[in-house]
Amino acid sequence: MEREQQIINHTATFVQQQLQDAEGGHDWFHVERVWKTARHIAAHEKANRLIVELGALLHDIADAKFHNGDETVGPKRARAFLEKEQVDEATISAVENIIRHISFKGSYNGSSYKTPELDIVQDADRLDAMGAIGIARAFNYGGFKNRKLYDPVIKPVAYQTAAAYKKNEAPTLNHFYEKLFLLKDKMNTATGRQLAEDRHRYMEGFTEQFLAEWNGER
Ligand code: ADP
Ligand code: NI
Repeated sequence: MEREQQIINHTATFVQQQLQDAEGGHDWFHVERVWKTARHIAAHEKANRLIVELGALLHDIADAKFHNGDETVGPKRARAFLEKEQVDEATISAVENIIRHISFKGSYNGSSYKTPELDIVQDADRLDAMGAIGIARAFNYGGFKNRKLYDPVIKPVAYQTAAAYKKNEAPTLNHFYEKLFLLKDKMNTATGRQLAEDRHRYMEGFTEQFLAEWNGER
């Protein structure tokens, strides 16, 4: 087997083991979807395929939420694994940087790191919060937090101005207006944007139908 494919397969097995006890939102199947979507986007964009695939596979390897907010655990674990696999230094450091810079919040921390490979993996990760899967993940998260589906009295607020608003009481439908509908305009790549447009339209159709049913209109 080709050496690169072998590294990718070993990494997939490693990540699957690492995520055995992960919570539902960031489990192995999330990673597998992001990996597939990243490959789909990379097929239409100019980027290093190995870095894209390793970045997608390793991007959620150690969620800082479960390591006392320590954001260095993921990159360190990825490096240790890739060194054992004798991956070259340039590839390892590119993958570490993808893990460091991928999160939604990360895009607000003033970082200027930007590569075609990070662009692709970030698009793929954001796409997994959109469309049918995104809807399922949002209500799964809301159910886990015991949130209401919807409450006509609690109006959604823009993501950036959420400070005064009790987020932990916000119904799940608000999340669409606060975050999910904003993702379409954050896509980095042309291919990601195309996929995002379909998924965005699907979520719009969903919320429209949801509200019509809520009001007994359909
Ligand atoms: P990321 O991995 O991109 O940082 P999060 O950990 O914020 O994403 O969210 C993981 C999943 O849970 C996403 O699909 C997201 O839409 C969903 N989610 C996060 N916060 C909420 C919320 N307040 N209500 C509903 N779904 C949420
Ligand atoms: Ni992710």
